[in-house]
Formats: sequence, structure tokens, C-alpha cells
Amino acid sequence: MEIRRVGVIGAGTMGGGIATATAQHGFEVVITDISADMVDKAIEGAQSFYARAVEKGRMNADAAEAAGGRLAKSSGLDDLADCDLVIEAVFEDFDLKSEVFSKLSAVLRDDSLVATNTSCLKVSDLAHHISGPERFLGLHYFSPAQINPLVEVVRGDKTDEAAMAAATAFCEATGKHPLVCKDTYGFAINRFFCPYTNAAARAMDEGLATPAQIDEVAKDRFGVAAGPFFVMNIIKPRINLNAIRNLSALGLFYTPAKSMIEVGDAGDSWIVTKPDPLAADTAAKVADILLGGTFLPVLEELDEEVATPEAIDMGAELALKFGKPPCKLMDELGRDEVARLIEPLCMRYQVATPQSLARVGSLRNG
Ligand SMILES: NC(=O)c1ccc[n+]([C@@H]2O[C@H](COP(=O)([O-])OP(=O)(O)OC[C@H]3O[C@@H](n4cnc5c(N)ncnc54)[C@H](O)[C@@H]3O)[C@@H](O)[C@H]2O)c1
Repeated sequence: MEIRRVGVIGAGTMGGGIATATAQHGFEVVITDISADMVDKAIEGAQSFYARAVEKGRMNADAAEAAGGRLAKSSGLDDLADCDLVIEAVFEDFDLKSEVFSKLSAVLRDDSLVATNTSCLKVSDLAHHISGPERFLGLHYFSPAQINPLVEVVRGDKTDEAAMAAATAFCEATGKHPLVCKDTYGFAINRFFCPYTNAAARAMDEGLATPAQIDEVAKDRFGVAAGPFFVMNIIKPRINLNAIRNLSALGLFYTPAKSMIEVGDAGDSWIVTKPDPLAADTAAKVADILLGGTFLPVLEELDEEVATPEAIDMGAELALKFGKPPCKLMDELGRDEVARLIEPLCMRYQVATPQSLARVGSLRNG
């Protein structure tokens, strides 16, 4: 399955970024949206991205001009008829996406690949709306898609090997690192990233520390440049809350913390001011909450074979900039310490101890 021409449906934050990265790497891109203005803005955004890349010496002027020339506007799905791959990035709404796929099915070649950039919906559910669900899969980009190097390649119930191989090769050809994963809530990365942010909010709800103090502990323990509250303010707490709510189907452990609901539903931001130093014993308690709250969902997804330990760590390093990715960190801490960290959570939220706990120590060399 050779991919040369790519259609992008939805020219917002993600569609614009996906189109920019794809055209930069030599593919013809047709971009469409219900709003012509959004298409114009996406193409202008791509042109300015290439211009900045030239200024910074990352692209030469000829390559930037050629990339811009590969982006074409479209006002409807008909223009996507002969695309080899179509990536959907419209609003996160099941009915809307279903309608888009039904309409696309009516015009698209039978052998073209079709992908959704959904964050929260099941790829396998959306697949019902495309003729030939074996060619349908998730390509979950991370924001900003122009530069974030990770893409989760999500296998739906019916996705075939040829589609997975073609999508993986496409990601590599556009300078992205594909993370192959199963179609479960949160896929491989949000499955533990959302609980990591939720654990931070739970530590605050317990009155242990302020957001800024908790961020400092996270920086130290996970080797991140910015802590969970700072990052949530960039993502927007409302969007982060929606992503956590999407995981709630996985059980009590995944239900959002009290403050997460209050701040998210109010559309507020976390107040992250310069932190006062935290007493060592309190910092240790906060660290336990953050580590346990991150390790438990990682072990669960390993049990479910959502992705390999290497793939989860690669994603944590590339998309989240974790200097100490979770599987490597668990191996370093050892099985007894990881058991000490997750057991209170298993008790409180009535979760069975994950079987993968037995492999801690050699998760990365198993
Ligand atoms: N923003 C993120 O950080 C992020 C990250 C990963 C995945 N996603 C997912 O990507 C998708 C898009 O998110 P976004 O943040 O780019 O949204 P956005 O609101 O910025 O853009 C969505 C675009 O879809 C267009 N649209 C709506 N209905 C349409 C239709 N019928 N046909 C064509 N275009 C239509 C809108 O006009 C809008 O321009 C969602 O499924 C979201 O969950 C978002």
C-alpha cells in the first residue's frame, strides 16, 4: 500500500499540525473543513512554520517552498476521493465523526487507508462507519503535531496487518515515532499520564502540598522539566478532566480527584506560584502518591498487552519528556518498592494486584 496523497479532514489545532508535518516530508496533502476560514488559517500556519524553520536553519528555502506547494485546499470530501490515506481530525464527537466516515466511504477508493485522530473514542466503534473496516485504524498525534515526534498507531478489532504496516511506515516517513498499541481507553500514553495528573490533584486534596510544591517533587522523581500542574495548565484543566473522565470506565481508581473536577468544570487554571521548600517527609509522601498513581495503570496496561514496556517508555520520553520513564524507573526501584507503592491504591480502589508486578526488575529486559 503506497501512500503519496494524504487527505486531512478538520483544519483545527491537530489537523493543521498533521497537514504541516505531512507536507514537510514530501507528501501531497489535501485539507478540508466545514469552515473555509479554518483551512486558510491552517495553510497560513504551515507556511509560517516552514518560514521559521528556514530562519532557524532547520529547512532550506527551496524545501520550504516545495512543502508549501504540496498543501492544497478543499471545500468538501469529494476532493479526497483519490487519497491513499485520509486522517480525520474533526471535533471529538462520536456522531459527527460517524457521519464524516459514512460520507467519506461513499467517495473514497476501496483500497485507501483511513485513520482517526480521536483521543477518547474507541477506534473499533468508529470503524463500523467505514466500508472495509480492516483498512481503518487510529493515528493519535500529540500536540503540537507539527513537532511532537510521537504517534500512537492504534489497532482496531478489525484492522489488518497491511494497514498497520502501511500506517507505521507512513509515520516513519513523516519523521514520527510510531507506538503500536491496542484500542483501549487512553491508548498507551494517556492511560498513565491522566492518572499521573490525577495523583497530583489527589496529593493536593489530601492537604499535603501546593501545586507548585507537588510539581517540584514530580520534576525530581520523573526527571521532567515541568510538573503535572504546570503541564495541565498548558493542556487546559477542562480538557484534561475530559480525558480523565473518559478513563473512568476502567474502574474507581480512574475517577477524577475532587479538585480536578472543581478546577476543570469551572474552566479555571491551577495556581502554580513559586514554591516554598517542602519538608523531606512530606515530599516523600507526595512522591509515593505520584509514583504509585503512575505505576498502577502502567502495570495494568502491561497485563492487558496494550503496548510493550519499551514502547510505553519510548512514548513517555518522546511525548511527555519523562527523563525517567515508568517501566525503567520501576525496574530500578525493584518489585518490593513498587508493591509498597501500589498496594494502598489496590486496597482503596478495589483493584486486583497486576500480574506484571512479578516482572518488575526485568520489565525492560524480559
Ligand atoms: N488538541 C489536542 O491536544 C489533541 C491531541 C490529540 C488528539 N486530539 C483529537 O483530535 C481531534 C481534533 O481536535 P482539535 O483539538 O484539532 O480540534 P479543533 O476544534 O481545533 O478542530 C476541529 C476542526 O474540525 C472542523 N470540523 C467540524 N466538523 C467538521 C466536518 N463535518 N467536516 C470537516 N471539518 C469539521 C472544525 O471546523 C474545526 O476546525 C479530536 O478528535 C481530538 O480529540 C486532540
